[in-house]
Amino acid sequence: MSAWRFSRYFLGSAPSITEARRFVTALLRGWPAVDDVELIVSELATNAIRHSASGRFGGRFLVSVQAHTDRLWVGVLDEGGPSSPRLFRPYPEGEGGRGLLLVANLAVDWGVWGDEHGRTVWAVLRTSSRTVSA
Ligand SMILES: Nc1ncnc2c1ncn2[C@@H]1O[C@H](COP(=O)(O)OP(=O)(O)OP(=O)(O)O)[C@@H](O)[C@H]1O
Ligand SMILES: [Mg+2]
Repeated sequence: MSAWRFSRYFLGSAPSITEARRFVTALLRGWPAVDDVELIVSELATNAIRHSASGRFGGRFLVSVQAHTDRLWVGVLDEGGPSSPRLFRPYPEGEGGRGLLLVANLAVDWGVWGDEHGRTVWAVLRTSSRTVSA
């Protein structure tokens, strides 16, 4: 069971990447994993905008954070589309393919739910045991 959960929609355009980072920073003030969650949200929000229908005119994506006593769950729900998230090795020429690799390295677990109508890319980070307050 989660101790608390917050979600917020963002417009599917570039300025929302910074807004989504600020949203999680504000929610997770004082949590040890806040920097990692910020990076993960930034990568997942960027992907939602660049690779899913969330980036179309009027599109949006949903950022959710769930706090448990010893871990944080973060997910970005997009509006789907033909392409699916997949792990690449970084391209030899150094262009792209690093975002999900970074997420996979920072998280203890991660994955994708959904289909062409909408996908949630999620990650779990372990935090030291602490008292959870909203
Ligand atoms: N939310 C998503 N919806 C659909 N496809 C996705 C999504 N996220 C990632 N992908 C697919 O998975 C691939 C790998 O994503 P990843 O973030 O690792 O690399 P990238 O976005 O191509 O480059 P980088 O993140 O390094 O700028 C993408 O190129 C894209 O094809
Ligand atoms: Mg990416």
